Amino acid sequence: MRFEPDAAFAERWDKKDELGHYRKEFVFSDPNLIYLDGNSLGRLTLKSAQQVKDVVEKGWGEDLIRRWNKGWYEAPSRVGDKIATLIGAAPEQVIVADSTSINLFKLVMAALAMRPDRRVVISDTLNFPSDLYILQGCIQLMGGDHQLRLVSSGDGIQIEEDSFLEAIDEGTALLTFSHVAFKSGYAFDVKKIADRVHHAGAMILVDLSHSVGVLPIELDSWGVDLAVGCTYKYLNGGPGSPAFLYVRKEIQRQALSPIWGWFGQHKPFDFDLEYRAADSIRRFLVGTPPILSLLAIEPALDIIREAGIDRIRKKSTDLTSYLIYLIQEELVTLGFKLGSPIDPEKRGSHVSLRHPEGYRINRALIEEMSLLPDFREPDLIRLGLAPLYTSFLDVWEAVQRIKKVVIEGRYRKYSKERFGVT
Ligand SMILES: Cc1ncc(COP(=O)(O)O)c(C=O)c1O
Repeated sequence: MRFEPDAAFAERWDKKDELGHYRKEFVFSDPNLIYLDGNSLGRLTLKSAQQVKDVVEKGWGEDLIRRWNKGWYEAPSRVGDKIATLIGAAPEQVIVADSTSINLFKLVMAALAMRPDRRVVISDTLNFPSDLYILQGCIQLMGGDHQLRLVSSGDGIQIEEDSFLEAIDEGTALLTFSHVAFKSGYAFDVKKIADRVHHAGAMILVDLSHSVGVLPIELDSWGVDLAVGCTYKYLNGGPGSPAFLYVRKEIQRQALSPIWGWFGQHKPFDFDLEYRAADSIRRFLVGTPPILSLLAIEPALDIIREAGIDRIRKKSTDLTSYLIYLIQEELVTLGFKLGSPIDPEKRGSHVSLRHPEGYRINRALIEEMSLLPDFREPDLIRLGLAPLYTSFLDVWEAVQRIKKVVIEGRYRKYSKERFGVT
């Protein structure tokens, strides 16, 4: 594709964008604000706002406890089945519950119990730290005989799948990684890794937090065993909305949650004194689901399903490619470097920009330029492009604002000291 470095080009692309009308589905309270953090907290949809109002006023306010039998009790499975359509999973394999970290804990413990004679867990240095902390905690809980083997990235951007493949041996119980790396946006070839993992008799667990809703995912046909993911990023479920987990149908009977709560019981309302795990994916539920935030996800998912992942992915790669073009044209001379893969096939929907003054530049963008990216240590400004509401003009304008902050030295008045959520 041929890009041009001017606003008119961006406007022309917005005019012919088939997904452009979806912008109207989202709340835009400040027309001047460019929001490039949908990879961290997706924007609010009008339908989710209405849904929360209805659930509070009609469900809770009027129906009270009766609502549990009018769709609340089944909600974790129903919303799970909708997410399943976005990740290439047949029904009854996905459930919505808890946070991503807790779901990861449940699945790691289940996987290690399913490979009792193997002692090695493999992950990588690009993985999200919480995932690595969970692995460390699981290893301690298992008695400390397991070992975490971390595959390193040479450049902080990518890890060739072959490095993973070399780390696998007959002692490997589990290999786990993020489909799209949270800092660089590198997208792993999951199928290639899954094939090798299975060949070695190990299990594979993928964190889909940065890919669900923007990348084509085919868990069933790739042969993935287990997966988890957030719903508050590209799924636009809202702050702290519950996460999801996937367990492949064929292994559901053997896979057991380490937390035995009543919602995972075979018949919770028999109040039996003995635990017997549900025969379905519901065995990975623990306690009462957070209904308000769980139901807020549902209408947002319907929008993504209607738009279709293939069209979303196409626009995502157009947006990220355009941004990278502008970075090379306009920002490299100001000391910026690209912190993401150049090959569109190998990246997700965010682009990282490196700059020695990244932290202070990010502060200035937020404080005075009405541009919201986020910052990740040590020097990365992450620009998340959410195809359903980010326009080409947003990308053009964002680059102009970044330029202004650096050329005018606006970042210099901010302290280097980190504060709060970055
Ligand atoms: C890749 C990845 N995994 C896990 C998490 C943790 O999610 P949670 O806070 O829901 O446990 C995040 C949070 O941003 C993430 O980006």
